[in-house]
Amino acid sequence: MKIIITGILGQDGANMCEYLLKNTDDQIYGMMRRSSNPNFINCNEFIKNNRFKFVYGDLTDSVSIDNIIREIQPDYFINFGAQSFVGCSWEIPLQTFDVNATGVARCLEAIRRFQPKCRFYSAGSSEEFGDVQYSPQDITHPVRPRSPYGASKAAARHLVKVYRESYNLYAVHGILFNHEGTKRGEEFVTRKISKGVARIYHAIKNNKQFAPIELGNLDAKRDWSDSEDFVEGVWKMLNQDKPKDYILSSNETHSIREFIDKAFHYANINAVWHGHGEAEQLSVSTEYAIKNDIQSSILVKINPKYYRPAEVDLLLGDSNPAREELSWKPKISFDNLVERMVKYDVDNFKI
Ligand code: NAP
Ligand code: GDD
Repeated sequence: MKIIITGILGQDGANMCEYLLKNTDDQIYGMMRRSSNPNFINCNEFIKNNRFKFVYGDLTDSVSIDNIIREIQPDYFINFGAQSFVGCSWEIPLQTFDVNATGVARCLEAIRRFQPKCRFYSAGSSEEFGDVQYSPQDITHPVRPRSPYGASKAAARHLVKVYRESYNLYAVHGILFNHEGTKRGEEFVTRKISKGVARIYHAIKNNKQFAPIELGNLDAKRDWSDSEDFVEGVWKMLNQDKPKDYILSSNETHSIREFIDKAFHYANINAVWHGHGEAEQLSVSTEYAIKNDIQSSILVKINPKYYRPAEVDLLLGDSNPAREELSWKPKISFDNLVERMVKYDVDNFKI
């Protein structure tokens, strides 16, 4: 089998590639876009594997998508490529839409024209649910996006349905709730926290001053899992008798504040919250400061520049259909996820 994965340098693309090299005999083509300074840090495990090959392409460039599908004749096309950062999507709404929505149309058209047997995965998002009407959110929850990113993913979802029904393609749009891990980009809140905790941990250890981690809305709640669990669910979605969209989620929700608490806990730093609203702060506890002879004490503070023009306040998924029909369930709990990320960043910290 030949499998194309877009977004290969990103979190899910790299995890999917590792999963497929371990669990199949297939040939993987990882699509990357041209960059003056590409970052291969997520690809160390497979970059030299002889069943893996990079191909150049860009979701905004239909010539490249057409050529890749015509020349490779893939059996699967797993589209993880995206402008994936919600926070930035208000600043680059048209680029977000072009990559995330029109890009999916380009892939579907190329598959329809050049390799209609190819199975297609579209990376949908819980951001499509937006200002949610009920919890937990299931596959029938209304589409109510709150960001250009959410709107772009909702458009992709409609396109997948249209192509599936019009041309009988095996095309699915998985609705995935937040998933993180040690390959997560540093602009996302979980990795920003785990990296920040690692920086502070090493400063305390070396008796140095440290600056707090600056964050936005700590009240938002997310349904977090590990990306390594989710790529298995995506592969199962692509290998059913009939194409069907599923939700993948942990079925739990936690606030940003809870993630922060756990992260400092796993770094053995005792901390206390005080203040409200923009004045809210997390500091080291008095006993901890005395015991460790610490001068700077503020660990986390609010910076309103990280607030979004519109927020998704609560996400909580219902992935029971995937658990029952795909025999899938996440193995890594919320606590394991935070512990893994903090430990990895503490162990791999570089100034
Ligand atoms: P990620 O780490 O940001 O990776 C996205 C990848 O897309 C990057 O490698 C990026 O390339 C590539 N890309 C961006 N623009 C492109 C373009 N024009 N053409 C081709 N590739 C392009 O994201 P992720 O966390 O792995 O997420 C994978 C997919 O799942 C995305 O579609 C995301 O929207 C969706 N999703 C993610 C989550 C989550 O919680 N992680 C949840 C739901 C849905 P560069 O490396 O060159 O920047
Ligand atoms: N990034 C970031 N940075 N978020 C912050 C910060 C900060 O400094 N402070 C608070 N937050 C809050 C955001 O306002 C949001 O409510 C929450 O933390 C999570 O933000 P992100 O980690 O950026 O993720 P996201 O939930 O917006 O989007 C992720 O999950 C979606 C699925 O629900 C991305 O992976 C999307 O690609 C994905 O579709």
